[in-house]
Amino acid sequence: MITVVGSINMDLVVQTDDFPQQGETILGQSFTTVPGGKGANQAVAAARLGGNVQMIASVGKDSFGKELRDNLQANSVNCDGVLENNAVASGIANILLSGGDNRIIVVPGANYELTPSYIEEMKKIIQKSQLVIIQQEIPIPTIMYTLKLCAKLGIPVLLNPAPAGGFQKEFLAYTTFLTPNETECEHIFGVNMEAALERYPNQLIVTLGSEGARFFDGEKHVIVEGFKTNVVDTTGAGDTFNGALAYAIVEGFDLKEAVKFANAAGSLSVEKFGAQGGMPTRAEVEQRLRGES
Ligand code: RIB
Repeated sequence: MITVVGSINMDLVVQTDDFPQQGETILGQSFTTVPGGKGANQAVAAARLGGNVQMIASVGKDSFGKELRDNLQANSVNCDGVLENNAVASGIANILLSGGDNRIIVVPGANYELTPSYIEEMKKIIQKSQLVIIQQEIPIPTIMYTLKLCAKLGIPVLLNPAPAGGFQKEFLAYTTFLTPNETECEHIFGVNMEAALERYPNQLIVTLGSEGARFFDGEKHVIVEGFKTNVVDTTGAGDTFNGALAYAIVEGFDLKEAVKFANAAGSLSVEKFGAQGGMPTRAEVEQRLRGES
């Protein structure tokens, strides 16, 4: 079982020909609300592949909260650990989409009500997990607490340090896999990517967008190439990679094969609209791996 400790947001997506300049008003093409949040996205990605997934998170007791929880359940994610908060609204992400590129502002809302004491209450779920996934859209003390709890219980953790602000160097001691993108890697380590990778063999995996991903295996740099794809919307591609990587690791793939599987899943996810819209099934990933799609 995979447990995701993370955020759930409603994505408020505006599609536009151009991004507005500072102080400028422009007309957009469409407005859509779709389920998102890095935690929920990673949970759905792993579940759609066939993983047994539990979510520990917090939503508001409002219409978005209900819709977001229903969406997780419809995607076979167990929501017993999803708290409903009376006092704070559900998290949202304001997303501007233009030409396959995006700009996102997250208002965490109820996601920031996920406290260390609630994680302690959820210990019974965590201790049954084969792997825990965390991202950084929840309070930093809660991340730290979860990491230490997992270390105490001997549960491996995949930490996706996104957004990278707030990352604590101390996290590394409790993290089995850390999966920043190139920008996040530079922000966290302040050295060039190769030097960072060499410091954390088989632990640090850097995602490179359409180029794939890479890690250092202790002897050499392993570059796992990406797949050719038709980009419609890149929102959630990193989340699909992380959910798929977690799934493949739990399925027993070695690290290189797991990264390749995750690259294929990520490449499929960008072909449809919405963070979760293009997340593939395992059969679809295998088809891409065979070069049939
Ligand atoms: O990674 C994409 C996600 O980031 C979006 O779904 C949005 O909710 C933000 O959390």
